[in-house]
Amino acid sequence: MTQIKAAITGICGYVPDYILTNAELETLVDTSDEWITSRTGISERRILIGEGKGTSHMGAEAVKGLLRKTNTKPEEIDLLICSTTTPDFVFPASANIISDMVGAKNAFSYDMQAACSGFLYGMSAGAQFIETGRYKKVVIVGADKMSSIVDYQDRSTCIIFGDGAGAALLEPNTDGYGLIDFVLKSDGSGVNHLVQKAGGSRRPPSLETVTNREHYIYQEGAAVFKFAVTNMAEAAARIMERNDLKSDMVQWLCPHQANKRIINATAERMGISEDKVMINIHKYGNTTNATLPLALWDYESQLKMGDNIGFAAFGGGFTWGSAYLRWAYNGAGVAD
Ligand code: ACO
Repeated sequence: MTQIKAAITGICGYVPDYILTNAELETLVDTSDEWITSRTGISERRILIGEGKGTSHMGAEAVKGLLRKTNTKPEEIDLLICSTTTPDFVFPASANIISDMVGAKNAFSYDMQAACSGFLYGMSAGAQFIETGRYKKVVIVGADKMSSIVDYQDRSTCIIFGDGAGAALLEPNTDGYGLIDFVLKSDGSGVNHLVQKAGGSRRPPSLETVTNREHYIYQEGAAVFKFAVTNMAEAAARIMERNDLKSDMVQWLCPHQANKRIINATAERMGISEDKVMINIHKYGNTTNATLPLALWDYESQLKMGDNIGFAAFGGGFTWGSAYLRWAYNGAGVAD
């Protein structure tokens, strides 16, 4: 029997118009453009402005663009997974809301929470539904309004994050294109180093939690950096080894965009030269669940059918992983 693989058959992104530059951050906290660019590689990031607009707004925009590009009717979507760390609400799932916004009436949908590794987790999960042969059109959304949980008085985190969304369409493929393999890992002891301390069931919102600024991201940057560098590179090397992938067989590395130095270390470990590494951290910062689909969207016009793409990500949890995907179409002429 021919094996069914889950191929990405379309990709689209959405970023809000407002650009928060390093120069503007210099007016908010004690920092400098020089520090931010040299320590992270980030020059600017996008911020979603507008009363009542949450992560679902950006996710829905990305999905609408995806449906337009791929000539897909919303009713055809079987499943929509939204990977996000900043859902509109604790419940219901943002995936439910996005499905409603785009008219995906026949889809079941759920959220995936794996912080910055969320898109990798979501894509791997969505692929399983395709590979069984039971589902034909699965949409994976990676979206985050990080500005809703960033403390703009904390110079060590506010410089990093931005808002954005990306969406990918997964469809069955029997010609060998699509997701070939993935490595996913997690270690919950990471909660001590990277967490939004209040707002969940362990520490519900109260006057005290708000006063203590516990609804914002808490990150021990240097500790997280060490875990990220080691584990992202390790996972990327593992996926290459077990698929007999030599460096010259990999056309692209699509890494999570948390810090340019972490990206460089991963590429180095894989033996991938800089020109093959998808980078958009300079203009979007760390958009958490959106970094991978936004990178694919940015580079779509350069992607060719049969390109071997390596993915690598690391995030809160801790969660991390890698994936190997064979690209299914020529992006030139399709990309927007
Ligand atoms: N401007 C100027 N100085 C700063 C700034 C800033 N914006 N931020 C921190 N500093 C200072 C610190 O106060 C410290 O000063 P000190 O030595 O006097 O105490 C010094 O710079 C060094 O601080 P570090 O935190 O050690 O700086 P580092 O080089 O590690 O960079 C950063 C910080 C960018 C956060 C880095 O640690 C990092 O990228 N960590 C990993 C982030 C990551 O991958 N997160 C996972 C994904 S996110 C998620 O899942 C939601």
